Amino acid sequence: MNSSPRPIVLDVDTGIDDAWAIAYALRSSHLDVLGITTGFGNADVHTTTQNTLLMVQLLGKDTPVYAGADRPLVRGWEGPVPEYHGHNGLGDVDLPAVVRRPEPADAASFLRDVVRAHPHQITLVTVARLTNVARALLFDPELSHLIPRIVMMGGAAFVPGNITAVAEANIWGDPEAADLVFRSGIPITMVGLDVTMRARLTRADLARMNPSAIPYATLLKQATEFYIRAYESDDPSIDGWCPLHDPLAVAVAEDPSLVSTRPYPVRVETRGALTDGMTVVDARSSNPQGNTDLALTLDVERFLGTFRERVGIAQK
Ligand code: RIB
Ligand code: CA
Repeated sequence: MNSSPRPIVLDVDTGIDDAWAIAYALRSSHLDVLGITTGFGNADVHTTTQNTLLMVQLLGKDTPVYAGADRPLVRGWEGPVPEYHGHNGLGDVDLPAVVRRPEPADAASFLRDVVRAHPHQITLVTVARLTNVARALLFDPELSHLIPRIVMMGGAAFVPGNITAVAEANIWGDPEAADLVFRSGIPITMVGLDVTMRARLTRADLARMNPSAIPYATLLKQATEFYIRAYESDDPSIDGWCPLHDPLAVAVAEDPSLVSTRPYPVRVETRGALTDGMTVVDARSSNPQGNTDLALTLDVERFLGTFRERVGIAQK
């Protein structure tokens, strides 16, 4: 990869795995992060914005942060997920003071302005509910012709969901927004639970991080221990690891060859009694080419090798 860095906007709900995704993106020489937009999800939007600013601060960057949606497009917010991310979104670890401030513009306005300023150039990397992107598209529908691709952490195609039997959190948390984005015509790479559950950060990895060399190491080691425990207590088959959902989406935006994909038509269920938030993949062979490149396989070792090197985990 010798070309100039790929311009991206990262949409987050920071969140422990979002925090790792921010570190992965801001330490990349292959990505140019033009801004980070925040929304409700793992915690309320004020908390996710503060956590995002904190990560930018600890990473020594000046990437602008834009606060966005505080609730889904049409329904009420179901609330945060302290069982997985703690009440403060970062594993209830004591946090250092945040000195940075969010930008005055809101996330949807920023998305509109930055896409209009760089037409056909910006990859949106979404690792949260799709509310900010949906609001930008409602505000300025032509954006759908100006965004070359969305790389999305979200959905579960041929594996179970993580909120309901069939729904993944980022889609379940605002199904109307997600469906609007899937119907927008913007090419989508869906990095769903099919691949993210194979990208595993272990306790042994955390032990190989040197806190005196990495300013965010102490925070993320403690927060991730909380996250690992949450996964372990929810699923007896999980022992000593947590999935790197959000960093994997950033990694795929940087290097699409980490996953193999197949195009499928994908829509989101918004009226199901049991299936709200399901990413409905039409896998019938008679169907026309789809709107979504679905990630199906992952080069686990190559991803983890790059991840460890990028975020400061010594190799085994
Ligand atoms: O399902 C995993 C996703 O939900 C991740 O983006 C995590 O941060 C939560 O938002
Ligand atoms: Ca997230």
